[in-house]
Amino acid sequence: MEAIERVCQFLEEAQTYYLATVERDQPRVRPFGTALLYNGRLYIETGRVKPVSHQIAANPKVEICACKGGEWLRVAGELVDDPSRGPMEAMLEKMPSLKAMYSPEDGNMQMLYFKDATATFSSFTKAPETVRF
Ligand SMILES: Cc1cc2nc3c(=O)[nH]c(=O)nc-3n(C[C@H](O)[C@H](O)[C@H](O)COP(=O)(O)O)c2cc1C
Repeated sequence: MEAIERVCQFLEEAQTYYLATVERDQPRVRPFGTALLYNGRLYIETGRVKPVSHQIAANPKVEICACKGGEWLRVAGELVDDPSRGPMEAMLEKMPSLKAMYSPEDGNMQMLYFKDATATFSSFTKAPETVRF
């Protein structure tokens, strides 16, 4: 399995991950659940009206952390805003519950993919493993 597939699978199995952004000199963190592999990229979804979206626009460097059993995954990288329709439709198909809140025409739904990402899988019992995508 490719590195990016392993990362996406971990996020799916963990169900919830925590997305950290930077606002001036203040870290911000919140739970997220959206994750999608599309055209070889790892996408997450948010709303353009949210503070998290504004923080990413001002500084696209983020880190996410997810936990599953005794393992955890951290992904650090930059998020790129992709306004194209394909990833939005694929995300709504994968996570239909989002349709109650978002649509590709609402001017709010935002798909972001990781660029220059470093992912580290850690556990209490094994040495950490770092992959890049
Ligand atoms: C389990 C869980 C998963 C969530 N997943 C997402 C998500 O994928 N995208 C999103 O925009 N908000 C998601 N949320 C809601 C955000 O955490 C919430 O809107 C948060 O306030 C956004 O951060 P902000 O207030 O700094 O903008 C999720 C909330 C929970 C509890």
